[in-house]
Amino acid sequence: MDIRSLSGNIANRIAEFETPFFLFDLDKIVSNINHLNASLNPAQIFFALKSNSLIPVLETISRHGCGFEANNVPELEKVIAAGSHPSNIINSSPIVAASDVRKMYKSGVDCFTFDSKEQVQNIKFNAPGAKTVMRLSSTNEGSRFNLSKNLGIDPTASADLLHYAKANGLRIHGITFHVGSQCHTPFNWCAGIDQCAELFRQFPELEMINIGGGFPVRYNGSIPDVTYISQVINDSINKNFEKRPTLYIEPGRFIVGDCAIACASVINVHHQKSISRAAVDLSVFGGLIEIIEVGDGFQYPIETAGNGEKQLYRIIGATCAGTDVIVENIQLPRLKVALRNPKNSSRIYLLNTGAYSLEYVMTAGTNGFNGLTIPRVHYIKDGEIVEEK
Ligand SMILES: Cc1ncc(COP(=O)(O)O)c(C=O)c1O
Repeated sequence: MDIRSLSGNIANRIAEFETPFFLFDLDKIVSNINHLNASLNPAQIFFALKSNSLIPVLETISRHGCGFEANNVPELEKVIAAGSHPSNIINSSPIVAASDVRKMYKSGVDCFTFDSKEQVQNIKFNAPGAKTVMRLSSTNEGSRFNLSKNLGIDPTASADLLHYAKANGLRIHGITFHVGSQCHTPFNWCAGIDQCAELFRQFPELEMINIGGGFPVRYNGSIPDVTYISQVINDSINKNFEKRPTLYIEPGRFIVGDCAIACASVINVHHQKSISRAAVDLSVFGGLIEIIEVGDGFQYPIETAGNGEKQLYRIIGATCAGTDVIVENIQLPRLKVALRNPKNSSRIYLLNTGAYSLEYVMTAGTNGFNGLTIPRVHYIKDGEIVEEK
């Protein structure tokens, strides 16, 4: 999503909105769901709501046929608030607390994941009769976020753990793995699928593979196309399985990542010969935490409405933290602060900020760290702006 592709009507409206704000395009979410369904043909998409749990976002996703991947009671409650039913939820985190497993199961969640003997016991006692899935640790090479360091059973111990789960009376349903979030290496899915196939040969009762999320979004580097990734995955499934297993996926980032822009106003500029400093009323602690989570080299694409001669800027957030750097250096048309009428100050737009952004600040009320303003949220639905009051 970029500002230049917005209709004139919408661009004019958002130019009037108070900053900071996020604008989510719900229509784009629908097209991402359709794209993934068409290219990969999974039996079911379960949206990982840890990436974004705004209720209008969840409602849109639910209305378009997706279930949800949820890991605790607050996430369960959000799914219900969005009009979906607990039976549309799967749990894929193998570290859910006993009380949450019990409450989720009682409310109708019927699919839980384990990667340890302890979680086998937890499910046995608190969700007896539920379908179960074993999570494997698989390669996360080339993914920006490694999700296999903490979670997933080592493949060499996986058959023993499945035997243990069976011996304890669990209903074995499937195998899952996660290739790492923002995965640039389609081969990661093949490696995980190979490991699943090996277990399917040993345990004929297995029916489902859940190949997780990881489908990438365009930030400041090139990414493999989802159509290509889907082809690689389907080829790997065809090669490994005589009969296609039930295929689940649980994307977060791909569904919502490129559906939002964040808008901030410049509140201070210090022009200098070499690199100038511009501070904005947004912050890495106000919805952009992934900038520091992934370390050097990551940035959201940035646009401004202005034009004219470009200058080199370091853009920082509105806090005193030395880590609050939104971009180390970027060429932008000269930025200005309008002290008499701050509404006329330059604005910057950060693109593709829909995943793992506001999720980190939504519980903070109206102000966060260092008195930060928590951004407002507006939506585009059916081509029209829906404004948060
Ligand atoms: C279990 C599980 N499934 C799915 C996802 C979504 O991954 P992504 O946002 O990379 O698609 C995550 C992300 O952390 C996860 O932990």
